[in-house]
Amino acid sequence: MKTEIAFRHVKKAYGEKTVLRDFCLSIEKGEFVTIIGSSGCGKTTALKMVNGLLTPDQGEILVNGEDIRGKDQTQLRRNIGYAIQGSVLFPHMTVEQNIAYVPNLINRKNREKTREAVRKWMEIVGLDEELKDRYPSELSGGQQQRVGIARSLAASPDILLMDEPFGAVDEITRGQLQNELRRIYEQTGITVLFVTHDISEALKLGTKVLVMDGGEIQQYASPDELLRHPATAFVRRLVDQQRRVCHLPEEKLGDCEYSSVGCETATEAEIR
Ligand SMILES: Nc1ncnc2c1ncn2[C@@H]1O[C@H](COP(=O)(O)OP(=O)(O)O)[C@@H](O)[C@H]1O
Ligand SMILES: [Mg+2]
Repeated sequence: MKTEIAFRHVKKAYGEKTVLRDFCLSIEKGEFVTIIGSSGCGKTTALKMVNGLLTPDQGEILVNGEDIRGKDQTQLRRNIGYAIQGSVLFPHMTVEQNIAYVPNLINRKNREKTREAVRKWMEIVGLDEELKDRYPSELSGGQQQRVGIARSLAASPDILLMDEPFGAVDEITRGQLQNELRRIYEQTGITVLFVTHDISEALKLGTKVLVMDGGEIQQYASPDELLRHPATAFVRRLVDQQRRVCHLPEEKLGDCEYSSVGCETATEAEIR
């Protein structure tokens, strides 16, 4: 498989505080990577380096084999969707205008193409077409989140970065959004990097899970591998929590549905 994103010996510090030291990771095209770790361990920092919002102090980030430092940042970002927690919609624009924002930049001359893209993405994320003329303040939290996802996908990016995107919505909406995201991922073949503090969510959505702690990668493996062979004590604790919330004996781990809904997460305080 082809490597799409690579961190090569990346170091990042804020003043005296080193957040990432010698961070090395290769992500293959079409992977859905969920990223989990203790609060402040550098998840957001790592994510923002992929679309150039932050630059490494040392080392390099490659996207499709090219160092992003030498690339046009606007071009780079158009090919990388970015969705974060809470509403990041433009408040003075309607749903349609929000979703059309990047497609408009790209299809300047073809309004019908843009309108068609908006319609398509609203349908895919489960937004009723009649909501298109509403403003963000006239939507529920779950609807705003869907608009945010539609907007980040409307530019047809190859890579989607999501930073705790479902943190602010209720459990049922969250379950629906997870299912929709997984379906979109399967239909588009896009590469996804998804930060979460919920181990159930990480195991449910990811084809690979990246566990971080203390500025280091604890494990980067499939959910199954993580559950069966936790690489460190930190990963073992996470996995034990998952087992407790799903009420599963060790030998039945493979049967765990990783369901977030109705599955208490005792992890928030410790893992956030
Ligand atoms: N702009 C900044 N200036 C100083 N410190 C920062 C800045 N951004 C993040 N940090 C610190 O760096 C660490 C990692 O932050 P972050 O990547 O946001 O962690 P995470 O997303 O894993 O919770 C935290 O201790 C945070 O307080
Ligand atoms: Mg963060």
